Amino acid sequence: MKMTEEIKKIIEQFNIDGNILDVVCKNVGNINQTYVATYKMNDNSTKRFIIQKINTTVFKEPYKLMKNIENITNWIEKKSIFKGDLKHPCLKVILNKNKKPLAVITDKNGEKQYYRAYNCIENAISYDNSQDRKIIYNTGRAFGHFQKMLIDYPIRRLEETITDFHNTQTRYENFLKDIERDVCNRVFDASKEIVFVIKNSDCARSITDLIEEGKIPIRVTHNDTKVNNVMLDKDTKEYLTVIDLDTVMPGSSLYDYGDGVRSCASNALEDEKDLDKVFLNTQLFESYTNGYLDEMAPYLTEAEVCNMGEAIKIITFELGLRFLNDYINGDTYFKTDYELHNLYRARNQFKLLLDIKDKMPYINEYILNKYKEKVKKI
Ligand SMILES: Nc1ncnc2c1ncn2[C@@H]1O[C@H](COP(=O)(O)OP(=O)(O)OP(=O)(O)O)[C@@H](O)[C@H]1O
Ligand SMILES: [Mg+2]
Repeated sequence: MKMTEEIKKIIEQFNIDGNILDVVCKNVGNINQTYVATYKMNDNSTKRFIIQKINTTVFKEPYKLMKNIENITNWIEKKSIFKGDLKHPCLKVILNKNKKPLAVITDKNGEKQYYRAYNCIENAISYDNSQDRKIIYNTGRAFGHFQKMLIDYPIRRLEETITDFHNTQTRYENFLKDIERDVCNRVFDASKEIVFVIKNSDCARSITDLIEEGKIPIRVTHNDTKVNNVMLDKDTKEYLTVIDLDTVMPGSSLYDYGDGVRSCASNALEDEKDLDKVFLNTQLFESYTNGYLDEMAPYLTEAEVCNMGEAIKIITFELGLRFLNDYINGDTYFKTDYELHNLYRARNQFKLLLDIKDKMPYINEYILNKYKEKVKKI
């Protein structure tokens, strides 16, 4: 899509020293609309910026969300400078001419639309999915590095932008209520999957209990640890920067690690219907775990290390539950392409869960051995 006058007017609200040459819409994101704006800067150089329209259906308080992102990115930038780290370019929020982090316009329906701007991470690429061990290793490493940089961040400064995001138990209780309501008459068609969830409902409690009992520390978490949220160097495929910070919140590092493995090491896409293709790819699990532990091993508590394998299981249960719940509610949260899309996604996660359960002894042993190896080296 070529630049429209409307988007140009929005972008001009940002405090950028130059003139817009071109704007291209990158139609990749599921959540936000992303544009790349190229500028001729006043010093005659050419520079690119990322402009994103915030999805206010998902993120209802855009200023609160931007406060988290500004705090986190400033913290990481200061720490990188302090450490003399030139390898990892930092994500920076560009303010508008009134020093605010959002450009706001009112659309023709009278609704406010919010846009933000970032520096563009150059010579970089993000993959929607990958089975390449090096890319998955670097993805694990990028999220480990992100957590490490924020290890001493004062957590009380961070807002919880989506309440109970990973409270698996609350999600399970809401699911039971939604089955009773059955607003779309879909419960009968999903009965096999519902029974599966109920039989596996012990999964809902294990990590939430440890958090409530104070046995697992609360850290800064990313909450969307997918391969496409890491910018890698186009040539070397080394990790550069973690992006997509909308869901940065206080939480448990276990969910980030577990979801990273779940999303990067499944052998198939989340909506693969042929369940024979859905299983945990052990090579990719090992790569992600190695990358993550290469950064985070010295900082993890014993309880965290002992529950990393469990976290992969719990998060897979949680996502399957969310897909199934959305199917029952009439597909109001996840975008669907056909009527049974969310039901197929739920089946996919439940198959993955069964495979993870089978491989649990190996998963736990691998994590523990790698952890010991990495801590010994330090
Ligand atoms: N600062 C940046 N520099 C370079 N490219 C970027 C930057 N921010 C985003 N992108 C590109 O735009 C894509 C979408 O960005 P982002 O992940 O923030 O949006 P999203 O809508 O939340 O996406 P999704 O829901 O798919 O995770 C990224 O995968 C990346 O390719
Ligand atoms: Mg993204």
